[in-house]
Amino acid sequence: LLPGLIILSDELNHASMIEGIRHGFGEKHVFRHNDVAHLRSILQSLPTDAPKLIAFESLYSMDGDFGPIAEICDLAEEFNALTYIDEVHAVGLYGRRGGGVTERDNLAHRIDIINGTLAKAYGVMGGYIATSERLGDAIRSYAPGFIFTTSLPPAIAAAATASVRHLKSDNALRDMHQAKAKLLKSRLRALGLPLDDHGSHIVPVPVGNPVKCKMLSDLLLEDHGIYVQPINFPTVPRGTERLRFTPSPVHTDQMVNYLVNSLDGLWKQCALNRLAQTA
Ligand SMILES: Cc1ncc(COP(=O)(O)O)c(C=O)c1O
Repeated sequence: LLPGLIILSDELNHASMIEGIRHGFGEKHVFRHNDVAHLRSILQSLPTDAPKLIAFESLYSMDGDFGPIAEICDLAEEFNALTYIDEVHAVGLYGRRGGGVTERDNLAHRIDIINGTLAKAYGVMGGYIATSERLGDAIRSYAPGFIFTTSLPPAIAAAATASVRHLKSDNALRDMHQAKAKLLKSRLRALGLPLDDHGSHIVPVPVGNPVKCKMLSDLLLEDHGIYVQPINFPTVPRGTERLRFTPSPVHTDQMVNYLVNSLDGLWKQCALNRLAQTA
């Protein structure tokens, strides 16, 4: 659709985006995660008149950190590039109408294509892009992944519509969600359990060992009835294996306490490190 398009892609972009970029068979440059200086240096090295697109995420699912959206939009303006953002982990959860981080930060108007899901917060399945009428029409007409597959069944579409409508106004639920994530983080800290906190609802607890990570996940399920997937290589780099918690607004305080106490016991059992300040 855009001959000669050059795509600049954050190194931690989700596999679905990487797959999409590959199918474009165009030139691609990968910039270091959230590194706007690196992105700038790549943009500077490219021909001024070449069409460009910067692809990144608003909230990265493995670390729970946010993309530098405003800075990337500034660069896109300066270098006349299009912007493509994946808001899969943010739609429904951030912004006064659940539009995602770009809505929360009043940046949606600076993005050319927003991609979201009807899974995760909306609890169903399917996905969408939000873009201009012309771009949407062009993609609808040419994207094989969209054309040569069955469309969503009516029951799923109806459920997704109900979820989207509900989360357009239920800010109390969104606030409860954030409060629950904060509670989980504070309880983990209180017991000296390690965690990465980037201010989002995604709470990674680093384990740093694939065998122990799988063991913790198995024991949480078998002995405590808690299901948390182990995240090992190749999903994350070796040495950064982790458990990743995403509390929901309907988890109770008792459930959070039960989880953290269970984890505390297992941490002792598996002889894992604690936070330096409380060790
Ligand atoms: C960042 C990101 N983008 C896209 C997807 C794909 O979402 P879906 O499976 O709902 O289409 C995922 C799924 O985990 C994701 O984490």
